[in-house]
Amino acid sequence: MTWRRYCATAADCAAAGKAFAPVLRIGDIVLLTGRLGAGKTTFVQGVARGLGVSERVTSPTFTMVREHDCTNAMGIETLHHCDLYRVESLGEVLDLALGELVEEYGVALVEWGELASSVFGRDVLTIDVQVDKTEGRNLLVDGALAEERRDELNRWASA
Ligand SMILES: Nc1ncnc2c1ncn2[C@@H]1O[C@H](COP(=O)(O)OP(=O)(O)OP(=O)(O)O)[C@@H](O)[C@H]1O
Ligand SMILES: [Mg+2]
Repeated sequence: MTWRRYCATAADCAAAGKAFAPVLRIGDIVLLTGRLGAGKTTFVQGVARGLGVSERVTSPTFTMVREHDCTNAMGIETLHHCDLYRVESLGEVLDLALGELVEEYGVALVEWGELASSVFGRDVLTIDVQVDKTEGRNLLVDGALAEERRDELNRWASA
């Protein structure tokens, strides 16, 4: 099953990210896909607000991963924000050891996540950001983990 939420503006996209935070659980890996400038970082900035990150969240393109402290009801303590745009080999993705990092009360949101899907296997959430003709965005959520979060995702998609 796929859940969809339409975002007419960048502010809507950030709001959709903020509303997505309660869907998350410790250990989650979220793979974000969508063309250059689709709105992946904008969505992550909203998720960060929803997770109670107080510092500014910017694109981690040149560092590959940035960590942000969180305070929230889900008990998630760290947001690992990754951007694999410049990744040159799967070895680099493996070196990030995201699967281990998220076990320490963390979650990972990975831009250009399709470049790592073979590393993380099926137990992920995927969010595809699709740009329509009017600059609106459709956020499409699926993945094996999504099936276990039906109630939360139904709520998210109907807002
Ligand atoms: N409906 C919309 N939703 C999200 N962003 C929008 C929307 N309309 C316009 N924008 C603009 O599109 C841009 C999205 O940039 P953002 O950095 O979030 O994309 P990205 O997918 O992370 O890009 P990159 O591939 O470079 O990492 C922003 O400048 C934002 O203001
Ligand atoms: Mg980005």
